[in-house]
Amino acid sequence: MSEEVRCRTSPSLALVKYWGKKSTRKNLPATPSLAVTLGGVYTETGVRIAERDSIRLNGENVDLDRFLPLFAALRRAAGRTAFFQVETTNNFPSSAGLASSSSGFAALTIACARILELDLAPERLSALARLGSASAARSLFGGFTLLPAGGRAARQLYEPEYWPEFRIVIVLVSLQAKPISSRAAMEGTRKTSPYYRAWLHNAGELLQPALRALQGRDIDVLGDIARLSYSRMHAALLASSPPVLYWLPSTISVIRECQHLRDEGIGAWETLDAGPQVKVLCLQADVDVISQRLQRLDPEMKIIVAPVGPGPVCE
Ligand code: DP6
Repeated sequence: MSEEVRCRTSPSLALVKYWGKKSTRKNLPATPSLAVTLGGVYTETGVRIAERDSIRLNGENVDLDRFLPLFAALRRAAGRTAFFQVETTNNFPSSAGLASSSSGFAALTIACARILELDLAPERLSALARLGSASAARSLFGGFTLLPAGGRAARQLYEPEYWPEFRIVIVLVSLQAKPISSRAAMEGTRKTSPYYRAWLHNAGELLQPALRALQGRDIDVLGDIARLSYSRMHAALLASSPPVLYWLPSTISVIRECQHLRDEGIGAWETLDAGPQVKVLCLQADVDVISQRLQRLDPEMKIIVAPVGPGPVCE
């Protein structure tokens, strides 16, 4: 058995969302995204050189198609034909809209690069990870990150320590896999939603105020912008044909409870991705009251509290 490289990376949660591609072939994002890397939740990936490519996710074989462009680019960069045997696990539900493709492709990219003994700068690794999943370009870094519209690579804006009180309360309202992948839904929005152009235009406009709010560590303004970003993304999605609705009844209950909390002066700003889960942006001082209030909606819902997370770690 050949030597193994193991790497751990955390998911990247967008505050200003990437939704839509400038180039499908190169997987270049059409909107800028501003994101935070989540602490305490992670993908762990082990890679060995093998006779053929194979990937197991949480013990199950995975179809290779989606991974081939990344593998081909890695082999080109190394100038050799090597195949990868990959074992990967998430310590959170996969494919349920918790950004598992971001941490998954980031861990895979960095582990494969290491086993090939490629000494690449973080920007280069980020650009490779983007071929797998554009959000993965951001997961190559801890803290707060930016992937510009049309950007090949993400960059770190601030280290994880930049905002020690910042928290993300992750509410897992359903553990079932989402009905349609983000990639397919994103293409559906681009091709069929009459709101797609407006979405693209507005996504660009949200970035600057979001960057200023982050620079001032202003959670009220940043939280409001994050709400606008997800609401408008989902509005464009819902207007596509066929319409895509990721929300479940419990998703809406959580959204409404966040509104009630804000009405009471408690800072809880929800955001959603391509799935029913809700992530609530807040400060450490409000975590207990927010978690209790949300848990009361449904004692079965799993709630995870994440601080701002680190970049990749390999052994
Ligand atoms: C809603 O990065 O999964 O989470 O590039 O096609 O793999 P592909 O899409 P992916 O989409 C993420 C969409 C999002 C928003 C975000 O993370 O910015």
